[in-house]
Amino acid sequence: MLIPDIIIAIDGYSSTGKSTFAKRIAAEVSFLYLDSGALYRAVTLYSIEKGVISPSGEIDRQSLCRALQGLDIHFEDKGDGSMTYIGDRCIEGEIRTLAVSDKVSPISAVPEVRDFVDDRLREFGRRKRVVMDGRDIGTTVFPDAELKIFMTADQMVRARRRADEMKRRGETVDFDEVLKNIRERDFIDSHRETSPLSMAEDAIVLDNSDMTIDEQMDWFRRLVAERFPVREC
Ligand code: DC
Repeated sequence: MLIPDIIIAIDGYSSTGKSTFAKRIAAEVSFLYLDSGALYRAVTLYSIEKGVISPSGEIDRQSLCRALQGLDIHFEDKGDGSMTYIGDRCIEGEIRTLAVSDKVSPISAVPEVRDFVDDRLREFGRRKRVVMDGRDIGTTVFPDAELKIFMTADQMVRARRRADEMKRRGETVDFDEVLKNIRERDFIDSHRETSPLSMAEDAIVLDNSDMTIDEQMDWFRRLVAERFPVREC
């Protein structure tokens, strides 16, 4: 599908399938896919390893700011989507564990962390033709994005999806813990002072509680065909 050079911002709650949807869209329209949550997760992993965040969640903000200087996070496309790296170390698996999920909301609430990530995202978006998923892409990072989608789904459905994803990776899963983590993250993400999760006024809502990924793609194709000049390739 050929569409104009635009930025597609996909925001929404955690575990709504944003990355699966965004990757499929990127493949469909031949755009670059960027997972902004992976950057926050990478900073969180690094913070845990550097002892900048304690097991109880207290953050040493000065050390965190120091640690951000010279932190080299980047993506490499190995054919099946982008993999997240710190330096030459692939951290794609480690950033998806519960240990990181547990600490990512407080770390991503730190203004200096948000500035660090936003700078990198804007750099990627300069040439357009990107699909970016996150929490504040359409509101803060790219308020002028030409297409904004806001994804939501029932909390139980999201917890089941996250638990299945973790099982597939061979992790031991306590469903109640996963559900608790999703509830807590929804709360912190929507109530933090800096860039809280909120829907842009011009975003279109997609509630995919009862939708398969193919149905979501049909929805996307219809939406794009209504809004932009589209050519099939
Ligand atoms: O999409 P995800 O679950 O991988 O994101 C991990 C965390 O990163 C999420 O709890 C909130 C934070 N995040 C954010 O604050 N802003 C973004 N644009 C993307 C993610």
